[in-house]
Amino acid sequence: MTRLADFEQSVLTILSSNLQEQDKIPQIRTLMREALTGPEFVMSCIERALGHFEQAPDLKPQPPLLVSLDQQFAAHLIYWPPHHKNSPHMHSTWGVTGVFHNEMVFETYDNAGDLEHPELTVDNHIEAVKGETGYLLPSCIHNVANESDKPSASLHLFGTDDMNRPAECTTVWFGDATRMPGELRPRAMAIFTDILLGIDGEEAEGLMTRVFELAGNKTKLRLVQGLSGRNIALSYRLSVALEQALEGADRERLAAINNKLSQQVASLEQA
Ligand SMILES: [Fe+2]
Repeated sequence: MTRLADFEQSVLTILSSNLQEQDKIPQIRTLMREALTGPEFVMSCIERALGHFEQAPDLKPQPPLLVSLDQQFAAHLIYWPPHHKNSPHMHSTWGVTGVFHNEMVFETYDNAGDLEHPELTVDNHIEAVKGETGYLLPSCIHNVANESDKPSASLHLFGTDDMNRPAECTTVWFGDATRMPGELRPRAMAIFTDILLGIDGEEAEGLMTRVFELAGNKTKLRLVQGLSGRNIALSYRLSVALEQALEGADRERLAAINNKLSQQVASLEQA
């Protein structure tokens, strides 16, 4: 049962081994692929991200998910709007990436020019779905896209360069460092909702209660509806909270539903 803290330890073990760097990074990729198959790992990443959103809900970008104890690497969750593609760029550090939610497209480039006058052509186009992972060694030019109609999320590990600087300080962009359209927090909460509704158990429900606090009304309603089939008491509690957040006709409509729900919950509690 790998959680984020165990994963961090395993990555550090690989990094401190005697292997060559080009052999360590594929091992970290395998480790991430295995970790992403476990709901405990996925929930521990969401837990960490939620902690950061709770501290600073509108900070953009959010802090890294983790910076390893000795600062050898950092982990980031990135939340991609539908149909968003960033510009080609390169990092001066190694990177391991996994699709955390939905799907992503990664392209790598050949540069027939130099850094001042690049002449880029795509040499590899990789389509990846949830759970798939890949890695990049330093100076590989690439870009990332979400070509789908829904938001996606990716998990990234980046090493630091020789001067211990994190990847975001040393990235070289070819073209604009495209800013993502839309708001970060509502997008992240919609993604967490999609993921958590697919995971059974109390831990997922606890996280969904925290997502609810940070989410927009549309996502709050999805949580109420999604939870109604598995935990009617929690669904009702959140539905009452959503009613307070609404106004006008929407509020009246939900009040009528909550009225019926309260009778249902009461009869379940008596049963
Ligand atoms: Fe990148």
